[in-house]
Amino acid sequence: MKTIDELIQDGVEGKRVFVRADLNVPLDGTTITDDGRIRAVAPTIAKLAAAGAKVIVASHLGRPKGAPDPQFSLAPAATRLGEILGKNVSFAADTVGDSAKATVAALADAEVAVLENLRFNAGETSKDDAERAAFAGRLAALADVYVGDGFGAVHRKHASVFDLPKQLPHYAGDLIATEVGVLKKLTEDVKRPYVVALGGAKVSDKLAVIDELLGKADRLLIGGGMAYTFLKAKGYEVGISLLQEDQIPAVTEYMERAEKNGVDLVLPVDVLVAPEFPDLKTKAPANPTTVDADAIPADQEGLDIGPRTRELYASKLADAATVFWNGPMGVFEHPDYAEGTKAVTQALVASDGFTVVGGGDSAAAVRTLGFDENAFGHISTGGGASLEYLEGKTLPGLAALED
Ligand code: 3PG
Repeated sequence: MKTIDELIQDGVEGKRVFVRADLNVPLDGTTITDDGRIRAVAPTIAKLAAAGAKVIVASHLGRPKGAPDPQFSLAPAATRLGEILGKNVSFAADTVGDSAKATVAALADAEVAVLENLRFNAGETSKDDAERAAFAGRLAALADVYVGDGFGAVHRKHASVFDLPKQLPHYAGDLIATEVGVLKKLTEDVKRPYVVALGGAKVSDKLAVIDELLGKADRLLIGGGMAYTFLKAKGYEVGISLLQEDQIPAVTEYMERAEKNGVDLVLPVDVLVAPEFPDLKTKAPANPTTVDADAIPADQEGLDIGPRTRELYASKLADAATVFWNGPMGVFEHPDYAEGTKAVTQALVASDGFTVVGGGDSAAAVRTLGFDENAFGHISTGGGASLEYLEGKTLPGLAALED
């Protein structure tokens, strides 16, 4: 992959540089609740602008259905980018239409514009190669050079990620270079003990990565909603907890393989339960009780790991030389169920090893729970992307930058 330093060395002044970023930030109305992804890509944009490029930033936000939908507008992200860069950032009200063309034409050297949400066009996510290539062609007409820096979206075979770099000279931005460098440390010659903590709601989202990690990690700590499918597979009753019955055979095979491979697969020994899911808006007290993992009452739901599990997981993380963590341990958005996720986060902070937070909800948890981002080796901007990388898959957005 060619870097943007090479692009700058070749001379970028006056060139229209299309930066595919991932500005897919969580919004509450028009308020950005976590700007981590914008801050992560801002240095690439600033570097290109400082070298005299006309920078065109494009991204998706949310999952609109191929047509404009105001609730998914990138306007708030463009405003925030301007604040972070400390300069005016213009905003095009469409992606390849009159507004985009006029906005790009009006850019002077070193100026920055953000286009409206790429997914307002059906061609962006189309499964039809010709439709995607056609949309990419319209994007290509706006620019001279492509820079891929939307790490969070590199696992998507989308027009702006996969097809567009084929149509323009292409380079990898600094964020992608950093993310890939970190993931290489987790896959090639990893320092041991290598401990992986996995949480989140659905075990089906994590099957492929668990499969791969059973041949790589020394310890696998399981939390979050997915833990209940493991507990059920162990023969425990899980009450009304999240359960994916159809995954029990896969999970059972993983537990057997872990044993055979000498991987320490660790499950919760106690959990916090309540008769209902907490109200995340009012955050009204949920009054959970702590029960052993094999004693979840039939009418109760497990919503976080319990205090003994917190200690157990912290002790399993204490001597790690490498840690990868993806997925909250409980419903951390409610204060009564945040302690499990906090305990794992604290264990990463206290670790002398190389610690990686794997994007998505875990990265948001780290920030919303008030931890210092600098206390971690790396906080990835890509949840799905980093998992798919660890699964050993070829990521379309990285493959396109290699060619
Ligand atoms: C993410 O949030 O993981 C990325 O921005 C990709 O978004 P997507 O899952 O909607 O493709």
